[in-house]
Amino acid sequence: MVLLTLAHRLHQHHHLLLISSLPLFIQFPPPLPHQEKLGLAGAMVDVSKWPLLSVLSAQEQAAVRQVYIFGTSANEAIYITHANEVFAFGLNCSGCLGTGDSVSTIVPKKLDFLQGKKVVSLSYGSGPHVLLATEDGQLFAWGHNVYSQLGNNTTSAGLSPALITNNLQSKKVTEVACGSHHSLALTQDGEVFAWGYNNCGQVGSGSTTNQPYPRKVTGCLQGKAAVGITCGQTSSLALIDNGEVYGWGYNGNGQLGIGNNGNQLCPCRLATLQGVCIQQVVAGYAHCLALTDEGLLYAWGANTYGQLGTRNKSNHLSPVQIMVDKERYEVAACHSTHTSAAKTQSGKVFMWGQCRGQSMVLPHLTHFTATDDVFACFATPSVMWRLLSVEHDDFMTASEALRKEFDSPETSDLKFSVDGKCIHVHKAVLKISRCEHFRSMFRSQWSEGQQDVIEIGQFSYPVYRSFLQFLYTDTVELPPEDAIGLLDLATSYCENQLKRLCQQIIKRGITVDNAFTLLSAAIRYDAEDLEEFCFRFCVNHLTQVTQTTAFWQVDGGMLKEFISRASRCGAFKN
Ligand SMILES: *[C@@H]1O[C@H](CO)[C@@H](O)[C@H](O)[C@H]1NC(C)=O
Ligand SMILES: *[C@@H]1O[C@H](CO)[C@@H](O)[C@H](O)[C@H]1NC(C)=O
Ligand SMILES: *[C@@H]1O[C@H](CO)[C@@H](O)[C@H](O)[C@H]1NC(C)=O
Ligand SMILES: *[C@@H]1O[C@H](CO)[C@@H](O)[C@H](O)[C@H]1NC(C)=O
Repeated sequence: MVLLTLAHRLHQHHHLLLISSLPLFIQFPPPLPHQEKLGLAGAMVDVSKWPLLSVLSAQEQAAVRQVYIFGTSANEAIYITHANEVFAFGLNCSGCLGTGDSVSTIVPKKLDFLQGKKVVSLSYGSGPHVLLATEDGQLFAWGHNVYSQLGNNTTSAGLSPALITNNLQSKKVTEVACGSHHSLALTQDGEVFAWGYNNCGQVGSGSTTNQPYPRKVTGCLQGKAAVGITCGQTSSLALIDNGEVYGWGYNGNGQLGIGNNGNQLCPCRLATLQGVCIQQVVAGYAHCLALTDEGLLYAWGANTYGQLGTRNKSNHLSPVQIMVDKERYEVAACHSTHTSAAKTQSGKVFMWGQCRGQSMVLPHLTHFTATDDVFACFATPSVMWRLLSVEHDDFMTASEALRKEFDSPETSDLKFSVDGKCIHVHKAVLKISRCEHFRSMFRSQWSEGQQDVIEIGQFSYPVYRSFLQFLYTDTVELPPEDAIGLLDLATSYCENQLKRLCQQIIKRGITVDNAFTLLSAAIRYDAEDLEEFCFRFCVNHLTQVTQTTAFWQVDGGMLKEFISRASRCGAFKN
């Protein structure tokens, strides 16, 4: 692992000092007010699980505050920087990037419209269309619009983000949710607005006529304060502040959980959840997961892929309780997948349903640390089920903290003096380091009050410093000629990993001029693999190598051995 990381970095920056690219971690967005009681701690998620983000440079990644990967094949991404700039890249489908020019791009393009605004919610439909809500309650939409799912009273595709105001003038939108071709918005006052495709009643207007702009969902929702919204492909659900759940739209698989499979053109309460208080509800393609304030988990709807987690693939028209152990969860699903995920309060992450083509009919305990990872690695398409917030600043990994303290005079309690220069280290770090040389030195000999300067005569300053730095950072920063000295040190301290790293540096730095020197060193330090590599290089460039000073300065024994070996390889045939 260390080796790979280093090899990768060296490959990219072999002429530079190794710049540590901080691993990028993601934190869950702050829980909704009604979820706070659950106390699910913000867990760190590694964005390297999302391959699409690897097109961003280390600097670009470091600037990301929120990110959302979406689209029919998970080929689109929108991210927001710490400076609140919005960027999009990926495939241009229906103008879903919002870049205005409708051209696919692998280079992130800035969406100027949002300059300086904070994004609080993002969602996408299958067209795709994209909805975005800002901290000040504004709603923006762009992308596919054949069913008026953008909500600006037209059906022409929105290549650039449009501010959606119809019926929302004095409202603050706090959350958005998209089905395949319909849209929901939740306002600060707990009102739900819906628009777009309405073939199954998913807009909740009592008809099946498409709705060209936001319309307040009334019926049984009238007078109730919603605190959450979620959409399946063609269904809609709202969570009320008292823990009730209402659903409307397509119900052919029982995804409304109301005990039958008839579509509902108006909101309908999930009556079987009477007596429990729901805290979180999420919809997948045609199934739903809900969580009560006591930590009970319910599932209902389509079960073709085992997404209900009930051991078989029978649909359920009403909520059934699953995962009955006494743990509290966060649940995750996304309208474009049949995947389900849950995370317990103690940090265990489960997945079930469609997982990379397999149908998992029971929750499977994973090694992930976040439900987001399940979607990154196992969902099809591997889209995000929520907008992810990235936190770099207030969290430093243990290894980053250690890296920072190397050669720091302020905290050091031990100095190595090499060639008249000092290297500042920490006794405790060396004592627990993986270097057996130091472990035994400090275990047996060190006592309080002993000298705090150790003189080193055997190695050069750059070599010894690199060695100590390696113990703190796992990385080596040396030109190939110095790496030979470090190889010597690694050999005498029996540091095999360090030996391998040195060999890699040397291999990358080999030239006609230094090839013979490197070959001699490889032989001297018993680095067989490196020796073979340098030998091949010398044979391949024999004429030039034999004209270098290093070749003529080498001792006779080695020269003879080289010539004999080279002739055995056919180097002198003609
Ligand atoms: C981008 O998408 C739009 C809308 O679907 C389409 O009209 C346009 O031709 C596409 N452009 C490219 C370069 O693919
Ligand atoms: C929507 O557009 C139609 C037709 O152009 C127009 O008659 C209607 O007034 C518009 N409605 C709103 C709310 O903008
Ligand atoms: C609706 O949005 C489209 C796409 O952004 C735009 O071309 C059109 O002018 C907008 N119409 C209205 C009435 O805002
Ligand atoms: C599937 O499981 C559910 C609940 O676990 C049960 O009620 C139902 O009868 C089962 N269906 C079949 C076909 O076994």
